Amino acid sequence: MNNRTLLQIAKEHMTPAYVYDLEKVREQITKLKNAFTYSRTRFLYAIKANFNPYLVKEIVKNGFGIDAVSPEEVECGILCGAECSSIMFTGNNMSNEDMKEVHRYGALLNIDSLSRLEKFGTFYPGSDVCIRFNPDIGAGNHKHNITGGEESKFGISHSQLQDVLDIINKYNLRLVGIHHHIGSGWLDVESPLNALEIILEVASIIPKLDFIDLGGGFGIPYKPDKEELDVNALGNQISEKFLGFCKNKDKELELRLEPGRYIVAQAGHLLVKVTTIKENPQGRIFVGVDSGMNHMIRVPLYDAYHRIINLSNQNGEQIAYDICGNVCESSDFFAKSRIISEIREGDILSIEDTGAYGFAMSSDYQLRSRPAEVIVDGNEIFLSRKRETLKHLLSKYERPTQSHQS
Ligand SMILES: Cc1ncc(COP(=O)(O)O)c(C=O)c1O
Repeated sequence: MNNRTLLQIAKEHMTPAYVYDLEKVREQITKLKNAFTYSRTRFLYAIKANFNPYLVKEIVKNGFGIDAVSPEEVECGILCGAECSSIMFTGNNMSNEDMKEVHRYGALLNIDSLSRLEKFGTFYPGSDVCIRFNPDIGAGNHKHNITGGEESKFGISHSQLQDVLDIINKYNLRLVGIHHHIGSGWLDVESPLNALEIILEVASIIPKLDFIDLGGGFGIPYKPDKEELDVNALGNQISEKFLGFCKNKDKELELRLEPGRYIVAQAGHLLVKVTTIKENPQGRIFVGVDSGMNHMIRVPLYDAYHRIINLSNQNGEQIAYDICGNVCESSDFFAKSRIISEIREGDILSIEDTGAYGFAMSSDYQLRSRPAEVIVDGNEIFLSRKRETLKHLLSKYERPTQSHQS
């Protein structure tokens, strides 16, 4: 999508606004599908990355199932057209209520503790189940994004495999799949391949399985100096290893993957307007915008890097700026000491690669409305979600404007 279109959208729909380019989503889907040559590969979209129904419907239409982590995500997947049989619920610290609700939908449960497995067996003996293992190795673009290894709260350790199998037998459960997810945002081929070796060892011990799920985590190059993930090399190598394993062990397994970020991150742009420019005596230039960490928390939370483009002045002098939000928190920055084409008050900036874990992680903090969401599908541009208002937010409360005493 070109910058002129983004500027037009900012004019028409105002700022702050998330803009999603469906063409880019389709491009990423095609890249992944082409890379994984193993014929029985199935992709589940990690809906946590972005639950905008227009995006989810498009992804489901392209043959993806859903990787869900809450009953609400399961329901959203169904409403967006996913078959229940193509949805897996990977619940961490799952409650009985979560378990029952998801089982009622008919989605497969991916269980990550012995205690939950025991409860699942008690409630639903004879059912299909998947187990999430902790691969003991992790990878990701920030320590908060690493989900494997000793310090991770996710998954059951491989060393507890016998305990898993004992519970499976006790309740006559059918262990149809095994799963792991090493972390998010990795850009190398080695980490997922190393983890694959580990899960294949586990798979070789389990007699009957329908699938092995390697989770998501496929990274994108947020920083300009980062190389893109070589998705073809990754897809080919995983496919070859997987096929070799199946032939060797005489198994016919499905290979499952759960990409989120890779599909939607680069399709998203957060458009913001510059409200204030302030230079301190030490020479730092603070550029304040009409958005903040309440709309996109990845920078304070993960120390994330997002490219920022001054759409209103693309060929100006290159100057170092601190780009900050309007939230009353010291960590409310989009970038520090970032060289950007000269910025003036009123300019429109695009914070790039914000389609994943952007709006999905937004909050009502300090009561500023969440941004509008606009979809671009070729020549068609439409508002998919209106900017929230305080009235809408308060309408979720019982009798919000009446005094207690009255
Ligand atoms: C179990 C599981 N699968 C898939 C994903 C998606 O990760 P990503 O968006 O990095 O592909 C996550 C992310 O946290 C996850 O926890």
